[in-house]
Amino acid sequence: MVLYTCTAPVHLYLLSFTLLYPVVLGKNERPIIGIITQEVSDEVFLQYGKTYIADSYVKFLESAGSRVVPIRLNLSEDEYIHLFHSINGVLLPGGAVDVFNSSFSRTADIFYQLAIKASSSGNYFPIWGTCMGFQILTALTSGKDLLCKTSANNISLPLILTDDVSSSKMFHHAPLELLHAVARENITANFHHFGITPKTFHANEKLSTFYRILSTNHDRDGVEFISTLEARDYPIYAVQWHPEVNRFQWRSDLAYPHSVNAIWISQYIANFFVNEARKNPNHFSNTKEEESALIYNWQPTYTANISGYEQVYFFD
Ligand SMILES: *[C@@H]1O[C@H](CO)[C@@H](O)[C@H](O)[C@H]1NC(C)=O
Ligand SMILES: *[C@@H]1O[C@H](CO)[C@@H](O)[C@H](O)[C@H]1NC(C)=O
Ligand SMILES: *[C@@H]1O[C@H](CO)[C@@H](O)[C@H](O)[C@H]1NC(C)=O
Ligand SMILES: *[C@@H]1O[C@H](CO)[C@@H](O)[C@H](O)[C@H]1NC(C)=O
Ligand SMILES: *[C@@H]1O[C@H](CO)[C@@H](O)[C@H](O)[C@H]1NC(C)=O
Repeated sequence: MVLYTCTAPVHLYLLSFTLLYPVVLGKNERPIIGIITQEVSDEVFLQYGKTYIADSYVKFLESAGSRVVPIRLNLSEDEYIHLFHSINGVLLPGGAVDVFNSSFSRTADIFYQLAIKASSSGNYFPIWGTCMGFQILTALTSGKDLLCKTSANNISLPLILTDDVSSSKMFHHAPLELLHAVARENITANFHHFGITPKTFHANEKLSTFYRILSTNHDRDGVEFISTLEARDYPIYAVQWHPEVNRFQWRSDLAYPHSVNAIWISQYIANFFVNEARKNPNHFSNTKEEESALIYNWQPTYTANISGYEQVYFFD
């Protein structure tokens, strides 16, 4: 297993890119990001509701200066279109619903199509996918379920960064010290049983023309899987790992990294994505509508004793 690949040559290369591309700061200082709720898959949650959002994703976005709106399932297409034009980005969280046959994936599809259409016509609309969100984005882009089994549940790894990192939107402004840490230390947490191999990726033209691979990893059996993707022409980003757990999940028998550098990469990613959302000018039509959509209208439930999440928002 070759894990430590990001060394001096990448270092210098990165420096030149950092100078070439100044950071573009988003101007919308009151961004609101939607998180799509998902069907409860764990039976112990059913006593609280039919759909949920783990609080760690909410805190992740809030920590970088965004507010959050839950995107409920089974709304009408018109309601989703209206919501789309009121918010500045969407996050597809991790979880466990069917990649195609779920209310979550149908809702994700609607926002994905709207985001592509909007970004193509100059209205920059970012989407972030984490773990299951990553997997669903690859299914939406390719129209296929390309996942294969990977043994990467409860394991923290360093990212094997690709050369495309240096010209990527996600990382070309990352401090070198942070990139070195993420390439060397076990600070990206994996909790997945499926993944996309680089081979599958390259064999699928839709995927390989749409995204660039920014990092890969090997699972416990040595199977290579893609850990970070960035769309070439759209503000669409996907990670198979979980940047939110480093700061917001604490179960002591799970491999959640909490070192100084683990906190740094988590905050860096949150700052990056929320800055992307600041480039979108959408807003609710009035304060009242905005207030009633925000997640502050719901109370998270204590779930640390029944799940890997400290708190969960339940709906429906
Ligand atoms: C959404 O609709 C599906 C299909 O009608 C239904 O099975 C499911 O319970 C609904 N989910 C919610 C949260 O209302
Ligand atoms: C889709 O999911 C529903 C509800 O879980 C199930 O009844 C149905 O058989 C599934 N359809 C397919 C094609 O898998
Ligand atoms: C990182 O994790 C791997 C796999 O669990 C382990 O073999 C390795 O010793 C860890 N490295 C460090 C620096 O902790
Ligand atoms: C998860 O991984 C950690 C660190 O490797 C280990 O100590 C723990 O026992 C694992 N937990 C489970 C539930 O497998
Ligand atoms: C978990 O904690 C909550 C809040 O303290 C409590 O109401 C609930 O009964 C606990 N559940 C279990 C399974 O221990």
